[in-house]
Amino acid sequence: MKPFEIAEKIYDVGVTDWNIRDFHGYSTELGTSYNAFLIIDEKIVLIDSVKKDFSDELIQNISTIVDPKKIDMVISNHTEMDHSGSLPRIMHRIGEDKPVYCSSMGVKNLSRHFAQKFNYQSIKSGETLSIGKRSFTFLETKMLHWPDSMFTYLNEDKILFSSDAFGQHYAGCEEFDDEADEHLIMLHAKKYFANILLLYAPLILNLVEKVMEMGLEFKMICPDHGILWRKNPNKIIEAYVKWSKQEPDKKAVVIYDTMWHSTQLMAEAIAEGIHSQGVFVKPMKLREFHRSDIMTEVLESRAVVVGSPTLNNGLFPTLADFLTYMKGLRPKNKLGAAFGSYGWSGEAVGLLQKHLEEMQFEIIEPSMKFQYVPDSKGLEACREMGRKIGRAVADR
Ligand code: FEO
Repeated sequence: MKPFEIAEKIYDVGVTDWNIRDFHGYSTELGTSYNAFLIIDEKIVLIDSVKKDFSDELIQNISTIVDPKKIDMVISNHTEMDHSGSLPRIMHRIGEDKPVYCSSMGVKNLSRHFAQKFNYQSIKSGETLSIGKRSFTFLETKMLHWPDSMFTYLNEDKILFSSDAFGQHYAGCEEFDDEADEHLIMLHAKKYFANILLLYAPLILNLVEKVMEMGLEFKMICPDHGILWRKNPNKIIEAYVKWSKQEPDKKAVVIYDTMWHSTQLMAEAIAEGIHSQGVFVKPMKLREFHRSDIMTEVLESRAVVVGSPTLNNGLFPTLADFLTYMKGLRPKNKLGAAFGSYGWSGEAVGLLQKHLEEMQFEIIEPSMKFQYVPDSKGLEACREMGRKIGRAVADR
């Protein structure tokens, strides 16, 4: 439990948010943590802060190690309020004239978040800062995932403080990857990537290349959410490279909603057809699965099949919600197909297909729609559609 000494004189003084279940529209069924780091050297440094609601807990955690007034400087890797919300309270406590190091966009963005102007010191990629026996190198990571984002690398200890990158929304008593369930942590790291970072995948590949060129080694990677990576930090870097390349697995996901079970019958028949070709497939009904969990499946799926009943001449609302969300995250290299049931007008399937085309999915034709309830012949046609999708996935 925090505070926790992660290396000699380096502490995680952040907080655990056990109860959060919705993080701006992302389901956080395991809660999360807001990690913040205190480094004691000739200078005492705080890296990042926490959500405003947890300001007292952060100050209390710091106080068990050192009088907060002795902190000499703050490094802000990211402006988003889950890591900066308690900055005004912290600055008030440690001294409002103390420097706050951040990127140039960090200066702008922090100034737009807080009325009070603090002693912001802008730093650039490659700049270093000595704090005694130790020193930092900074690396701007613009748009990963905000314009202000940056990494802070502690040279002597080879520790990367990576802000949101490599994080997971996970609340637990464990501090490190070797103490936690690796499968669970990787799943939540993947969910984080799929829902927060996918849009910026090309930038992530560039960043990894840049880090390689800098010759940085990592003994530990410390994100601002969840578990810290020390057993094999390269594992999460390699996973980020894989996810960023967007070379999907031989998998499919069937995303649908239903009114009177007709679209559900179609979804399950299509999934059966896909599976018959040896392709892993998951049917996901939108009112039973959260959009962020569906997006996690989309990340590694080659085929994204969407189904909707027609409601009021349009899409069922959960489909409109999900397609808007998925479109924003810009998944690439996908096969797409559309299906649905209708009563009398039947516009939904055409609308689904239009969304898939706008996302530049390779469309598997023809789409499939049935009036009212599909009969056994209709369901066989759905299975055949699934087999065709399955063959297309298996052939890639
Ligand atoms: Fe964890 Fe972008 O904030």
